[in-house]
Amino acid sequence: MADPASNKGVNFLSAALGQADSPAEAALRPLSFSDFTGQAKTVERLQVMVGAAKKRGEALNHILLSGPPGLGKTTLAFILGNELGRNVRVTSGPVIEKAGDLAGLLTNLEEGDILFIDEIHRIQKTVEEYLYSAMEDFRLDIMIDQGPNARSVRLSIPRFTLIGATTRSGLLTAPLRSRFTLQTRLDYYDAKTLAGIVHRSCGLLKVELDEAGAKEIATRARGTPRIANNLINFVRDYAQERAKGRITQPVAAAALELLEIDAAGLDEMDKRMLRVIAENYSGGPVGMSTIAVAVGEESETLEEVHEPFLIQEGYLQRTPQGRVITPKGYTAIGLKSLGGNQGSLL
Ligand SMILES: Nc1ncnc2c1ncn2[C@@H]1O[C@H](COP(=O)(O)OP(=O)(O)O)[C@@H](O)[C@H]1O
Ligand SMILES: [Mg+2]
Repeated sequence: MADPASNKGVNFLSAALGQADSPAEAALRPLSFSDFTGQAKTVERLQVMVGAAKKRGEALNHILLSGPPGLGKTTLAFILGNELGRNVRVTSGPVIEKAGDLAGLLTNLEEGDILFIDEIHRIQKTVEEYLYSAMEDFRLDIMIDQGPNARSVRLSIPRFTLIGATTRSGLLTAPLRSRFTLQTRLDYYDAKTLAGIVHRSCGLLKVELDEAGAKEIATRARGTPRIANNLINFVRDYAQERAKGRITQPVAAAALELLEIDAAGLDEMDKRMLRVIAENYSGGPVGMSTIAVAVGEESETLEEVHEPFLIQEGYLQRTPQGRVITPKGYTAIGLKSLGGNQGSLL
């Protein structure tokens, strides 16, 4: 049985992914397209738009970047700023509380600047409606004063580019979504691309690493550069303490076993989810809120951080009735699937 009480330290993943935009992370962030590997389709789309905007001397059209945390959304927003030679102003959906906050942000922009709104699915509905006319007509109609003195003031704002980032594009309203010229989704990186990123990061950190060591870290980083960089930090410490500073395959594997990250990149929380479905709910279907209570984690975290990878890799299926564990999921937690969804010990 999964034991929700012993949750301490188990969620390395969400801790790692929560360290967004730390100084350590900024140091490893690619600054140009040429430095950014993977996401070929998205990068090509962005390069086309940047090239055209530059030739026409116009602001870039609005762009929505979606995908799980740690795949490069913020990085790409800054790369776009660099490639265009424009400022990037950063804010996030929940931070903009009222129309006045938005007006403050927008009126301080210069022509062609980028406003980056992270977690744009969490923007307040009342603020969102102001965003429509700002994106479309570059104006804001704001109500000032109250009661008999109330009046609407029209502010015109510079032609800017909105770059929205979201881990949950499904939560965006249709009117907001339709105002983005390009909506592009980032996917998990394959192990080979990720190994290249591990090499790059280790080079910047001046950490000695061999080919097999890079591959070992990459295969355990669940397709996510931010996780790869985080694993590197721990493996580097481990290598320094136990292996004269050099990261080889056995060193990387031993260090990551110590973090309870298995050879496929699953961590304790992933396995706990699978165990709850298999053992407490005979393989499912079971609703995410029920799983969340049983494993002692927020269902939002499970849906954003854990579930997409489990689904993509085929450990879990999402059905209208709820989540169902797959045979591969049973194997991952050392159970064998019987007929139906019942599992038994191997
Ligand atoms: N394609 C890439 N190549 C190299 N490093 C990357 C790449 N994508 C992301 N990273 C690294 O991963 C970290 C997380 O990326 P970030 O853009 O903050 O993700 P997101 O905003 O999608 O959560 C960054 O610090 C960056 O160093
Ligand atoms: Mg980000």
